[in-house]
Amino acid sequence: MLKIAVFASGRGSNFQSIIDNIKSGDIPAEIKLLISDRQDAGALKRAEHEGIEHLFIDPDHFETKADYEEELIGLLENDGVELVVLAGYMRILSPLFVKHFQNQIINIHPSLLPAFKGLDSQKQAVDYGVKYSGCTVHFVDQGMDTGPIIKQAVVEVKAEDSADDLAARILKEEHKIYPEAVKLIAEGRIKIEGRKVKILKEEK
Ligand code: GAR
Repeated sequence: MLKIAVFASGRGSNFQSIIDNIKSGDIPAEIKLLISDRQDAGALKRAEHEGIEHLFIDPDHFETKADYEEELIGLLENDGVELVVLAGYMRILSPLFVKHFQNQIINIHPSLLPAFKGLDSQKQAVDYGVKYSGCTVHFVDQGMDTGPIIKQAVVEVKAEDSADDLAARILKEEHKIYPEAVKLIAEGRIKIEGRKVKILKEEK
């Protein structure tokens, strides 16, 4: 069983999709801990409801970002965490943290990377006028939204779409590909070669 920690800042619907797929027996993993940097995050409530250990760690309580991240590292190590899943975690992890968990942190981003990095990606896509956008699951490296790509899903952008319309359609795909990516990692079927992520065949 792969030991997972999830970091989330918001409503936690991606967190929930991973919980549901673990509960149904589809992913051989265990969520040891949910950490949020926001006290009002819906993800904390979901964790409570599911009986998953959850902590609000207030970054403002630490003098430096390094102090905050050292606290996080300590908690993860205590639980023997092998994979950190960022699910709507709206902070950039420092090189120190990323190095500590090299190739053990994944993120979901609501665009087809490398397009529309950063914040408000769905609005960026609508404003740009692209016909297709989507979502990306990737390993986290020291850049912003730049790490090796594990999975992507394509979503059509309709002429009348608002950013919220597009976000809702993309979110549905996020809830499919994020659990799929976690499953691949939990099954040991992922191999990183430079920028490329190879997916190994399922053992029969
Ligand atoms: C998701 O759309 C996720 O892709 C996005 O935040 C939302 C979180 O929703 N993440 C980012 O924009 C990261 N830069 P959720 O809290 O319901 O999972």
